[in-house]
Amino acid sequence: MESLFSAMIVLLLVTFSCFTSSEALSSNNGNITIKWDVMSWSPDGYVAMVLVTNHQKQCSIGPPGWKMSWTWTKKEMIWSMTGAQATEQGDCSMFKKFIPESCAGKPTVVDLLPETPYNLQITNCCKGGVLTPGGKSSFQLTVGNAGTSNKTARIPVNFMFTAPKQQYICGPTKNVRPTRFIYADSNRTTQAMMTWNVTCIFHKAT
Ligand SMILES: *[C@@H]1O[C@H](CO)[C@@H](O)[C@H](O)[C@H]1NC(C)=O
Ligand SMILES: *[C@@H]1O[C@H](CO)[C@@H](O)[C@H](O)[C@H]1NC(C)=O
Ligand SMILES: *[C@@H]1O[C@H](CO)[C@@H](O)[C@H](O)[C@H]1NC(C)=O
Ligand SMILES: *[C@@H]1O[C@H](CO)[C@@H](O)[C@H](O)[C@H]1NC(C)=O
Repeated sequence: MESLFSAMIVLLLVTFSCFTSSEALSSNNGNITIKWDVMSWSPDGYVAMVLVTNHQKQCSIGPPGWKMSWTWTKKEMIWSMTGAQATEQGDCSMFKKFIPESCAGKPTVVDLLPETPYNLQITNCCKGGVLTPGGKSSFQLTVGNAGTSNKTARIPVNFMFTAPKQQYICGPTKNVRPTRFIYADSNRTTQAMMTWNVTCIFHKAT
């Protein structure tokens, strides 16, 4: 299993060439989108699903994978995460009973590795941050010290998306029409409480 994964990585590495910056600028080769769906409210915040999609036709993200960061606008913190992890816990000294995943004001999040235990995985996670063209990466986070309604929850700002040997520039976070989720096996449709979108454009190879 492990050798199969290594072989896949080697194969993927061969295809990890990106167009040059002049090509990127002269043609609309796509972008990376980050969709942040607030799925439910919690006692002190909300649970969100974050989906990263690589809409680029020629650009793959190779090991050691993507990293994402943003800036909270209030005192938000991350109670827990599934399918990804925050690289730094930050100062959680004010929490005595349950220790949060991260209290950093500007958290950085990375994907988990394929060998992650199943109970810590989620759909589209755990590929070591590798994103092929058209590929998706997801994680779930429980946010605390956040508003508990769509009138009070604050949009995180200054999203940064980084990838090995590639530089991206992310646009502003936009409050968009809440995502509708359609369940194939029933006639039920549900809707996110709030949805925020960010688009990141390939800037240059580094
Ligand atoms: C992102 O890429 C898609 C696919 O190429 C394109 O349709 C869309 O306009 C792009 N969005 C931005 C903001 O550049
Ligand atoms: C909050 O939810 C209400 C009811 O669904 C909706 O009418 C309103 O536009 C939402 N506000 C924001 C900021 O999303
Ligand atoms: C938000 O991003 C998702 C995922 O890329 C996309 O499907 C959706 O159309 C976007 N919504 C808006 C209003 O741009
Ligand atoms: C969905 O609705 C259609 C039309 O009302 C019905 O024929 C079908 O059996 C429904 N499917 C399920 C899984 O409920």
